[in-house]
Amino acid sequence: MKVTVVGAGNVGATCANVIAQKELVNEVILVDIKEGTAEGKSLDIWQTSGINNYDTRVKGVTNDYTSTANSEVVVITSGLPRKPGMSRDDLISTNAEIVKSVTENVIKHSPDTILIVVSNPLDVMTYCAYINSKLPSTKVMGMAGILDTARYRAFLADALNCSPKDIQAMLLGGHGDTMVPLPRYTTVSGIPVTELIDNSKLNAIVDRTKKGGGELVALMGTSAWYAPGAAAAQMVESIVKDQKRIFPVCAWLNGEYGQKEIYLGVPVVLGKNGIEKIIELKLNNDEMKLLNDSAKAVKEVMDVLDKLNK
Ligand code: NAI
Ligand code: 2OP
Repeated sequence: MKVTVVGAGNVGATCANVIAQKELVNEVILVDIKEGTAEGKSLDIWQTSGINNYDTRVKGVTNDYTSTANSEVVVITSGLPRKPGMSRDDLISTNAEIVKSVTENVIKHSPDTILIVVSNPLDVMTYCAYINSKLPSTKVMGMAGILDTARYRAFLADALNCSPKDIQAMLLGGHGDTMVPLPRYTTVSGIPVTELIDNSKLNAIVDRTKKGGGELVALMGTSAWYAPGAAAAQMVESIVKDQKRIFPVCAWLNGEYGQKEIYLGVPVVLGKNGIEKIIELKLNNDEMKLLNDSAKAVKEVMDVLDKLNK
């Protein structure tokens, strides 16, 4: 079984490394446009195999898509990351061109693959890959919700002095400041989080989660990679092992949550066929309003892409 990761930068190389270390597949192909980058990173990753005890082969190539043929899953991380002061939406035109050309190249050699998009602005780049791949929407999805809930769970684990493993959380909406973490659907070993933490602390954590990407950009001068790479690898795992795990994933909605023809984060079942089910939660009026606001923000950027394509 083969998985391709396009973009051998911070997120792509981390994702390939996690896939290899967990032996999720036999072979990982890392592709980059910059001569030598993917070859060098994959050689370095492969040289950890004896130390970390795995035998997943990791091979790097420069823009050679023949090596990616018949990939079960392709993770697209190619594109510019955010710099300080830059919003995810500033990235749109540059990254749309990159995601379009990468998608076309990937599909030529793996026409039945499943695509996981990571490039930003996430919801709109996923839409871009969907349009250009011509795959069914169940096979084109974006990674954001696993990362955003992981941040939320890490902040909660610190505040509650408990293990993040015991925190279950759900989050909806676009990958941006309008995302909608759901305290009502957050539990700690089955205990509603609202019974363990007061409202003002919880609201502060929700707020920090929404700005979690920006917090790291401000600290490092570029966007995060360990958690994003691991989150994309977790989606790969659920698909290649047909685990049918339920995760927040950026998915194409056609009526669900009252939203039509939009990519947005919602809970889905992830298995060998890609998105096997979209789960519709019962939302209260406040949650529904937040989701509608988030959808509106995503739709505005989707419209920018549509106009660029005309
Ligand atoms: P990076 O700059 O470290 O890596 C990007 C790589 O893409 C570079 O090596 C570059 O040479 C390569 N690339 C550019 N054009 C290409 C093409 N046409 N074909 C193949 N490779 C190409 O950036 P990083 O930090 O890895 O971030 C990658 C993307 O992921 C960015 O758009 C970033 O905003 C996004 N991101 C999304 C997250 C999410 O939650 N969805 C989280 C973190 C980052
Ligand atoms: C993140 O959330 C910037 O999307 C990137 O880390």
